Amino acid sequence: MTDEKATPQEEVQNGPKSIDRKHFLHLAAAAATLPAIALTTAATAGATGATTEHTKPSSLEPTPECDDGDDPTPPQTEGPYFKPNSPARRSLLEPGIHGTVLTVTGRIFAARTCLPLERVLLDFWQCDASGVYDNRGYRLRGHQYTNPNGDFSLTTIWPGLYPGRTRHIHVKVQAPYQRILTTQLYFPGEPRNPRDPIFDSRLLMEISNNPDGTRNGAFDFVLNV
Ligand SMILES: [Fe+2]
Repeated sequence: MTDEKATPQEEVQNGPKSIDRKHFLHLAAAAATLPAIALTTAATAGATGATTEHTKPSSLEPTPECDDGDDPTPPQTEGPYFKPNSPARRSLLEPGIHGTVLTVTGRIFAARTCLPLERVLLDFWQCDASGVYDNRGYRLRGHQYTNPNGDFSLTTIWPGLYPGRTRHIHVKVQAPYQRILTTQLYFPGEPRNPRDPIFDSRLLMEISNNPDGTRNGAFDFVLNV
């Protein structure tokens, strides 16, 4: 990406330069469903005798610019509390776990193609509401795989705080036969965010509150594959 200002004409042709990566990727994923619509339109045009041979389409989708390599999800330190062999589960809730329920959802995309990735392994771990990790067992630890749409969904609790860190969730993300991305997800508006040297604003989730007191977090990963 560059900071060059697009002329109005360029914006019409290429789309607004200000569109951010996540929103672009959502659009790209949605565009993957377009061929069926295009075929229908073409069939309709043929049926009505319309010709498109010399007609320049005026509403082509912009050519994806997904190979600039500037913004795969950044890696972060693993920290001292990762444990291999976590249980396969999308919900980390279990008896004895207390706190505000948080559901984190998102999708995983390939940077080079802008397409969602299925069968991507996500391994989450976090501290409890008191800021304590379970290093003996597997409380608040679990792994899952993305579905064919590249979706994941994690139900957990709002993590607590422990000395030296802002609020965060750890995760390892691995597409099949690819290198592991180890990173962390963060919460907007946390007073400790600016004081935590590990914090990275590119890893902030979008947080929303539900009427029942639970919360949602949203984050899309972009893997350098
Ligand atoms: Fe941590």
